[in-house]
Amino acid sequence: MPGPWKTVVSKDAPALARSVAERLVELSRTPGSAPIAIALSGGSTPKRLYETLASPQFIQDVHWDRLEFFFGDERSVAPSDPDSNYGMAERALLSHIRSKAYRMRAEIGDAESYQRLLEEHVAAKRDGVPVLDLVLLGLGTDGHTASLFPGTKALHETRRLVVMNEVAQLKTRRMTFTYPLINAARRVWILVSGADKHEIVSRCIAAHEGASIDRRWPILGVRPEQGELVWWIDEAAAGGREKR
Ligand code: 6PG
Repeated sequence: MPGPWKTVVSKDAPALARSVAERLVELSRTPGSAPIAIALSGGSTPKRLYETLASPQFIQDVHWDRLEFFFGDERSVAPSDPDSNYGMAERALLSHIRSKAYRMRAEIGDAESYQRLLEEHVAAKRDGVPVLDLVLLGLGTDGHTASLFPGTKALHETRRLVVMNEVAQLKTRRMTFTYPLINAARRVWILVSGADKHEIVSRCIAAHEGASIDRRWPILGVRPEQGELVWWIDEAAAGGREKR
């Protein structure tokens, strides 16, 4: 049975980024010494979060030594390319902190190595699937998340945890986590802002509230088995929706 899910609505994109950053402060201060494994995402809303985390307040408040960063997806380019998710996260946040970060080498297409790296660094559940403490995701207007795009093969993957996914509509291939890895996580936070996302957000939330899983929009395959699922959205994306 999927775990609980909720939406948190913030006034606007900066407020959303601050709310998520504040939760990350708490997460980084979880008692214990084990590294806290977080998968980062590409996209404009996640980018704003990284920039917020790089502000003096959060640089000071987050216990960066506890955090280890991975990536949930990557474009087939070198990190110096403006399209690289790693490059974006590095400029916005990683170059300002001392946490370890492991990039996906999507430009050489080696998804198996990235899966092995996760298996080495992140404790697994009984079936061998690593359990990330947090997977951050964005959402496209077509319902894609990570690089799980509508109509692509990776949506049907049940065994491999990281794959190269042919994305015909973008005439490219990208490396991406698959559902079995995302849905094993302790927490999955979906970050969405802006009026252009209102339609897809309201459709997806309505579908979430229904009993059946609809795979039309890849985001709806994100249903953590045990972990929490939080939709962090701003009022523009929510279209005036109340906090629940
Ligand atoms: C990427 C992503 C992708 C992204 C969404 C939302 O590499 O682009 O990881 O899933 O998060 O496309 O992106 P925007 O916030 O820019 O719309």
